[in-house]
Amino acid sequence: MTSNIIALLGSPLSGGNTAKLLDKAICGAEDSGCTVTKVIVPNLTFSPCEEINNCLIEENCFFDDDITPLYRQFKTMDGLIIATPIMTMGVPGALKSFMDRFQVFYNAKYVRKNPLVSKEKKKKRKTLLISISGLNLPDNFVGLKMTVDAFCDIIDCRQADELLIRDMDTKKNLDLFPDLLSLAYEKGHNLGLMIQ
Ligand SMILES: Cc1cc2nc3c(=O)[nH]c(=O)nc-3n(C[C@H](O)[C@H](O)[C@H](O)COP(=O)(O)O)c2cc1C
Repeated sequence: MTSNIIALLGSPLSGGNTAKLLDKAICGAEDSGCTVTKVIVPNLTFSPCEEINNCLIEENCFFDDDITPLYRQFKTMDGLIIATPIMTMGVPGALKSFMDRFQVFYNAKYVRKNPLVSKEKKKKRKTLLISISGLNLPDNFVGLKMTVDAFCDIIDCRQADELLIRDMDTKKNLDLFPDLLSLAYEKGHNLGLMIQ
C-alpha cells in the first residue's frame, strides 16, 4: 500500500510563495511513491475551538464541519507537510485555529489515555515543516516552531525536517530562486522515502 501524506497550506494565497514551495514538496513526495492530499486551510469552513470540551469525554468534537472528515485522515496518515508564512511572528490565524481543533487528539492522548494514533503509526509517521518570513530577523520562526512542536506531539507525527526561508520582502518571487524550489522538492521526496 502507498504511504499517504496530508499537505497543509497556511497561506491564503493559493499562488503565493508558500504555495509554490508546498507544490514542489508535494511533487517530490508523489515522485517517491506517496499519495498526497492537499488542504488549503484558509479555504475550509470551520469553527474555532470554543472549549465546549466534548472531547474530554468522547472522541468527537462538538462541531461537525470541514475538519470532521480530516480527523479520520489525521489518524491514518503516514506523513504531514505544513507550509505556512509567518504572520505577526507566528502561525497565521486560520492555521492556528485549525491546530487548536486537534484538542480532540490531545484529550484522547493525555486525559483519557486512549490515543487516536496507533503505536505502529506513531513510530513511522513524520512531519516536514516549510515556512517563509517577510523579514530577516533572528527570531522569525521561534513562535512557529513552538506551536508546530506542540501540534506534532499532540497528533503523534514527529517533525523530522524543515525548510525555513527568511527575507521574502527582498526575495519577492521564489520563481527567481530555483535552488530553493528544488530544495522543497528534495525535502518532500525525502519525507516520502522516510515514511515508507
Ligand atoms: C498579516 C501579515 C503579517 C505578517 N507578519 C510577519 C511577521 O511578523 N514577520 C515576518 O517576517 N513577516 C511577516 N509577514 C510577511 C509574510 O511572512 C511574507 O510576506 C510571506 O512571504 C507571505 O507568504 P505568502 O505570499 O506565500 O502568503 C506578514 C504578512 C502578513 C500578510
